[in-house]
Amino acid sequence: MRHGILVNASSLTNSMQTRLSQQLGIKYPIVQAGMVWTSGWKLAVAAARAGALGLIGAGSMKPDLLREHIRNAKATEVAEAIGVNIPFSRGDVEALIQVTLEEGIKIVFTSAGNPKIHAQKFKDAGCFLAHVIASVKHAVKAQEAGCDAVVAEGFEAGGHNGIDEITTLCLVPQVVDAVKIPVIAAGGIADGRQVLAALALGAEAVQIGTRFAATVEASCHPSYKQAVMESDDNSTVLVLKKVAPVRVKKNRFALEAFEAQLHGATKEQELELLGRKREMQGIFEGNLEEGELEMGQSSGLVKEILTAQQVMDKLIAEYHGAERRLKQIS
Ligand SMILES: Cc1cc2nc3c(=O)[nH]c(=O)nc-3n(C[C@H](O)[C@H](O)[C@H](O)COP(=O)(O)O)c2cc1C
Repeated sequence: MRHGILVNASSLTNSMQTRLSQQLGIKYPIVQAGMVWTSGWKLAVAAARAGALGLIGAGSMKPDLLREHIRNAKATEVAEAIGVNIPFSRGDVEALIQVTLEEGIKIVFTSAGNPKIHAQKFKDAGCFLAHVIASVKHAVKAQEAGCDAVVAEGFEAGGHNGIDEITTLCLVPQVVDAVKIPVIAAGGIADGRQVLAALALGAEAVQIGTRFAATVEASCHPSYKQAVMESDDNSTVLVLKKVAPVRVKKNRFALEAFEAQLHGATKEQELELLGRKREMQGIFEGNLEEGELEMGQSSGLVKEILTAQQVMDKLIAEYHGAERRLKQIS
């Protein structure tokens, strides 16, 4: 059955296993997202210890640093539940891929580009390959390229977005209907009620970014974590649409970029406004007014900085609470 995402009926009450979580060998169908300046080996290992798939975000690492992070993760008892996220937008993507494969990583999540160019390398190395997409068209292309799964990311998500501005609620079922490979829902998910909803839409797992960014083990700046925690439902905005749309917290820089967008700024003007290293300034250095504070609409749901284990415990409890509520009305 195409939409029979749960392994069997009894698993609904006892566990959250799906075909994908079984395939990946993880306890819960939850992926801690790869995030620049945020998801180093410490967060990935903490998430994996709590039963998720932990992703090291290569997007802000030089190849040697990535190797160090992978080796640190590999030295732990949860090495097999650790993958690497590689954005294809990186100039030195070949070197990042080489390090990832040399270090024997078997789970790779790619984003920001065409998976067709590099998919074969991952397949030859026996990797499980998931690619992040934001439209049905790109999901189909990822499947054709040989990907084993797609991450369907709605535009609620923190960080870089697709250009079509499709919400997770609408994107996930359409992607589920369009491809045969498993779909991982992302964008806007920060609590267990939403995990249950994503599985109801046909997703076989969820990928969670912003909620995991505000954890003790995340390597982003404490001020950035605080900024996530202090957000409301309307604290973020999508800017730099001509360059590459990105969802960030409203601050001086974001509002300037938003104004420029409203007044029809060209790509060159947006690039000039962006300057260099905004992501690092905002996320890693904690520059709350001038930096790019990538976070999603789900930041409004984040009320405290927790450990990855506490986040997972909370997600699971909320999931089962929502499941019980559903049973009462059915
Ligand atoms: C601080 C931050 C950095 C991110 N960096 C990356 C990245 O390097 N590569 C990537 O594929 N996605 C990146 N993302 C997107 C996440 O992987 C994930 O898909 C997204 O956060 C899911 O939406 P959510 O934030 O609502 O949970 C980033 C997101 C955030 C919040």
